[in-house]
Amino acid sequence: MSDSNDLKRTVARAALSHVIPGELLGVGTGSTANHFIDLLAAESISIAGAIASSEASATRLRGHGIPVLTLDEALASGRRIPVYVDGADEIDPGLNLIKGGGGALTREKIVAAASDCFVCIADESKCVDSLGRFPLPVEIIPMALGLVSRELVRMGGIPALREGFITDNGNFILDVSGLHVFDPVAFESELDHLAGVVTNGLFARRKADIALVSSADGVRSLRV
Ligand code: A5P
Repeated sequence: MSDSNDLKRTVARAALSHVIPGELLGVGTGSTANHFIDLLAAESISIAGAIASSEASATRLRGHGIPVLTLDEALASGRRIPVYVDGADEIDPGLNLIKGGGGALTREKIVAAASDCFVCIADESKCVDSLGRFPLPVEIIPMALGLVSRELVRMGGIPALREGFITDNGNFILDVSGLHVFDPVAFESELDHLAGVVTNGLFARRKADIALVSSADGVRSLRV
């Protein structure tokens, strides 16, 4: 197992203490989230059901025998989703995030918005002073590829179509490098207002409530 993989598994394990037995649980997407799913199953923590942020995570959860509900089923049940656990591509000191390296940003943002507490899990390589080194994923309606690309260039970005990738929602992803994110909340809103943009990977309006960050020294729990 690589060091990075060890750190991801370590932080995923730390997140288990935030799971509330008997309650619903939001579950994210990516390699760190996959460790979390596997450990959740291995520890036999009984939850009322999981709300997954991607088809891949739903399949993994079901593979372990963990019941998966749609978000609408969860909301119709009248139950809260007290905790959402997911990874990130970048975390700044204010717990604003860039997400979407796995292309699941839209559903991640939806499940995060529906949850009371977002517990972000990552190894220390994801911590940055300011967001923007990681190319920002932007999910777009396919017919708007040219239009959104032009607008992103106007905003100083360098958009690249994620080749051969279609999101769970049937859309494209543009990975945008060269952006300087001085005001994550304002920039998230500005990007969302471009016609053809479904979601962008800035999680600032609904940022993490807790970040668990693993390093060789152990796991730190960060809050703002
Ligand atoms: C998925 O779309 C992403 O938001 C992931 O949460 C993010 O890319 C982190 O992925 P890893 O845990 O694989 O690094």
